[in-house]
Amino acid sequence: MSKNTCKIYHKNCLGLPRVATQSVDALVTDPPYGIGFQAHEWDKKLPDRQIWNDCLRVMKPGAFGLVFSAVRLMHRLMVDLEDSGFIIKDVLFWVFLNGMPKSRNVGLNIDKELGIDSEIVGQYTYVQGYKKGGAETYTNQQRKNKYKPSSSLGKKYDGAGLGIKPAYEPIILIQKPIEKGVNVAENVIRYGTGALNLEATRIPFAEGEGEVGHNPHPKGRVAANIFRTETLNDGYDKFFTIPKVRQNAEDFNVHPTLKPVALMQHLVKLVSFEGQTVLDPFMGSGSTGVAALELQRNFLGFELKKEYHKIAKTRLKAFQ
Ligand SMILES: C[S@@+](CC[C@H](N)C(=O)[O-])C[C@H]1O[C@@H](n2cnc3c(N)ncnc32)[C@H](O)[C@@H]1O
Repeated sequence: MSKNTCKIYHKNCLGLPRVATQSVDALVTDPPYGIGFQAHEWDKKLPDRQIWNDCLRVMKPGAFGLVFSAVRLMHRLMVDLEDSGFIIKDVLFWVFLNGMPKSRNVGLNIDKELGIDSEIVGQYTYVQGYKKGGAETYTNQQRKNKYKPSSSLGKKYDGAGLGIKPAYEPIILIQKPIEKGVNVAENVIRYGTGALNLEATRIPFAEGEGEVGHNPHPKGRVAANIFRTETLNDGYDKFFTIPKVRQNAEDFNVHPTLKPVALMQHLVKLVSFEGQTVLDPFMGSGSTGVAALELQRNFLGFELKKEYHKIAKTRLKAFQ
């Protein structure tokens, strides 16, 4: 049971209806990337720039925001955020091992273009989507042929492709400017915003790692702007680790771009303090809300699609 408030709307967030001016302490959101992910209609375009103006209106001076983006279009999103009046403070990199490249074998395409049959060299099991328990538990397994180019030009370009493996997602750290003539401490006293919650997001020292610096902090290092999702067992593996896949998700959550709650918790903690209000205008299945309520924050969310709003409602009910 949470003492905190949770308001979620099945509504277009444009205009942020019913959200009072300067009432929000932090923005944490995973908006459409504008890349048409899995042909979803809602992901075809970047959000209307007006929505960022609306976010600026409802946020308190000095309030921070974290906005997920895609590598290919983050520059456009950053321009939209800046043009709406936000300061771009940093770009966090959420690094993972299990991304798949969107590519093809150009050698096989050349065979096809030349009208030559490629050679079948074996078979493999094809699965689509993520499932708890790993690929063996998939019911949609299909056997597919493995091919090798036959033409001499196809052989020369065998394995050549169009994309490298995605290994990170950028998360843009923004801030609503502090009012002119007001310093950070005055702003924090007046609004409770204007400072990152660095104490709550320290990265503990790895086992056996010596404490670093002249005056090492007992809780570890200050959170970095890069964090990994898997243990790589190398000398640099001392960042926050969060698995990308949906092993911990409820079965009913079918949202295609679900974010891990552990990741959202790290982000919520970084830009807000207990008792404050976190806004997600593109909440999807409500992962930001789950993280916010688990961390004793209030949550305010909008979602356009009924199906996803219903999932968020089910997930968030547990806290009310
Ligand atoms: C990338 S998804 C968020 C997924 C979420 N992070 C999760 O873990 O479930 C973005 C969501 O924004 C919603 N959306 C798109 N445009 C919207 C709008 N104008 N107002 C409200 N929701 C919108 C989409 O339906 C989609 O569910």
